[in-house]
Amino acid sequence: MDQKSISKAVIRRLPRYYRYLGELMEEGVERISSNELSEKMRVTASQIRQDLNNFGGFGQQGYGYNVPYLYTEIGKILGLDKTHHMIIIGAGNLGQALANYVKFEKRGFKIVGIFDVNPVLKGISIRGNQIRMMDELPEFLKEQEVQIAALTLPKGNAAETADFLVQHGIKAIWNFAHLDLDVPEDVIVENVHLSESLMRLSYNLNCYVTEHQKNED
Ligand code: NAI
Repeated sequence: MDQKSISKAVIRRLPRYYRYLGELMEEGVERISSNELSEKMRVTASQIRQDLNNFGGFGQQGYGYNVPYLYTEIGKILGLDKTHHMIIIGAGNLGQALANYVKFEKRGFKIVGIFDVNPVLKGISIRGNQIRMMDELPEFLKEQEVQIAALTLPKGNAAETADFLVQHGIKAIWNFAHLDLDVPEDVIVENVHLSESLMRLSYNLNCYVTEHQKNED
């Protein structure tokens, strides 16, 4: 399978398929038709067929999809069959919340270090990881293989920190700071902005309220 030819839109939808298939596995479901999956996921059956056709013969006419097989294959495509080591930069509210979330590890994202500049936080243990100071980071990165860095520090310090991480070999940044990072082409940045999601919710709420008012008039 040539993963490079798969569109970004399909890749964006894959984690959702993965999640639903995981739930089906937990319920002991062995196979599912695209129509059933469509009802469950509220996506059209043709969209599901189109998306999954990108990955070759997962579905069979009259049989549907083999749930454990599809789950495993999508997991492989998403790279979830490997363990990724992740560090967190900024051990404040958000950084600590991420560090406390156990399910990342179940998905293969192992938090191996948490770093901050505030000496008050030094040594505090979060699920077995003691918060370290930033000046320990270069040595740490020499000793540990780290693929992902989560940035949960103030926006004003994010660019400089990202440069530093890139110089020390980090290739993937999970960026929570509200800043678009300027990184070399071979570095991948995934931005997460909860407030943007909230703004979309607000927009949709506004549309709903306006529509409702129109209907009442
Ligand atoms: P916080 O103030 O609780 O934590 C920030 C931590 O970063 C502090 O412990 C501070 O000492 C540390 N820090 C500052 N400069 C640093 C540096 N150069 N290197 C390492 N650590 C450094 O803030 P909170 O609430 O945890 O938010 C963290 C960041 O995440 C902020 O930029 C905030 O705007 C952003 N945020 C983003 C969200 C999103 O959806 N993208 C949601 C919530 C917060």
